[in-house]
Amino acid sequence: MRLPLIAGNWKMNGLRAEATALASEIRTALDRTPAEGVDVLICPPFLALAPVQEALAGSSIRLGAQDVHWEAKGAYTGEVSTAMLREVGCVFVIVGHSERRHIMGETNEHVNRKVKAAVAQGLTPIVCVGELLEERSMGDTYNVIERQIRRAFDGMPAADVARTVIAYEPVWAIGTGKTATPHQAQEAHRFIRKLVAKIAGPEVGEGTRILYGGSVKPENAKELMAQADIDGALVGGASLNAESFVRMVRYRE
Ligand code: 13P
Repeated sequence: MRLPLIAGNWKMNGLRAEATALASEIRTALDRTPAEGVDVLICPPFLALAPVQEALAGSSIRLGAQDVHWEAKGAYTGEVSTAMLREVGCVFVIVGHSERRHIMGETNEHVNRKVKAAVAQGLTPIVCVGELLEERSMGDTYNVIERQIRRAFDGMPAADVARTVIAYEPVWAIGTGKTATPHQAQEAHRFIRKLVAKIAGPEVGEGTRILYGGSVKPENAKELMAQADIDGALVGGASLNAESFVRMVRYRE
């Protein structure tokens, strides 16, 4: 049984006061009427993690970061370690987001190191994969996804793969308003689940949460979440408004 996870990726949005206000608004709404049977996660920018953690103290909303470095400490100017994230209350970390891959030049090798470091240090990585529009047009979608996933999990025992979450985020659907159809998303998720089963065994395949990301909004969340292999959503733009985020958390209602 995979508990759905609705995650907000705030990306590079929110000064501390705004981030705290948004987190508090989400918290108040969910405290008033808790959402049953769903995990809720918010991933603010690094500098807002500590104040957001305070705003969420005592609530069941989880905190996550948007990136992490693989080394424990040392001369890595500008980077943030797993221990630093844990210290401010993070339990999840997004790894290999398409914006990091395509804007910051992150490679599958970097993603692999980050996933391993996160798992080793008790953070749950949300491993992002997804194809570019050109790759989809060329019929290359599944090759791209397979390569990204195999390399992200390279050298990891099945027990560690079991401690990850995967997010399928087709790059052409991110921030564009063009959502994958529920059918397209389901096909990709099914493919990913089978691949995880091949890599780490059927139980891990069956148990791994696979989130969909790319222009998820209150209007389409329910239909996406109704697909057999979609276990949650990684939401960008529509997570920056408390009312719309909470509506997605309550996608069943
Ligand atoms: P949007 O929901 O804004 O399309 O962003 C998706 C995303 O990249 C979440 O990580």
